[in-house]
Amino acid sequence: MKDIFASPARALVAGLVVSAAMLLIAIGYGGTDVRGLVSFLVRWLHIVAAIVWLGMIWFVNFIQLVAVAETDQPARAAIMKHIVPRVAATFRQASNWTVLSGVVLLFTSGYLGGKLMFCAPVFVPTMRNALLWTGTLGAMAMYMFVHMMIWPGLRIVLGMEPADTDKIAAARVRVATYARWNLVLAVPVTVAMVAAAHLY
Ligand code: HEM
Repeated sequence: MKDIFASPARALVAGLVVSAAMLLIAIGYGGTDVRGLVSFLVRWLHIVAAIVWLGMIWFVNFIQLVAVAETDQPARAAIMKHIVPRVAATFRQASNWTVLSGVVLLFTSGYLGGKLMFCAPVFVPTMRNALLWTGTLGAMAMYMFVHMMIWPGLRIVLGMEPADTDKIAAARVRVATYARWNLVLAVPVTVAMVAAAHLY
């Protein structure tokens, strides 16, 4: 038990093992088919990846940027060295997994390729379609901001690319601005996607 709590990776694996056991019991008693199971697993992955992405958005906007603004130079340097690179890597990976699983979910949920997945076109009510595609548009903007604005800016701020002080200051503003844009968009995107799945 002590070993499990000594590492976050092992704690995560422990959670996955418990979940797999729970799922096996549920499927053993309730049954499912392959398509239902795949669809469920993709949806689960999408939600978990989105939770991590949203968690990073929350952390950056409400904790990291506030801490960086409030602390002195040595503390700021420590944050930049030990926290920011890890947050940035998680941010990017979570956004990749969210978009990837989201695209697969478009098929398993019947928005695209109905004939391919379900052997017949799937009727998706207009309002569900409108909500989902609006959310997807917002999500793609969020994704582009992460990879085309925040990360290139952070590379300059973290000294991974040579730059003068003016360029570093401009990059800092760019990172903070697009982190805010991610926060703004995250709310309607999540509302649109949960509504598409559950409002009707
Ligand atoms: C290109 C990017 C994305 C695509 C293609 C996509 C696609 C989808 C699809 C097809 C669904 C299922 C809707 C249904 O069952 O009717 C869904 C649900 C969902 N998505 Fe996304 N998504 C994307 C990005 C995001 C982002 C950025 C977030 C949040 C940060 C997010 C959060 C959610 C949530 C919370 C659900 C609801 C799941 C449920 O309650 O069952 N998605 N998404």
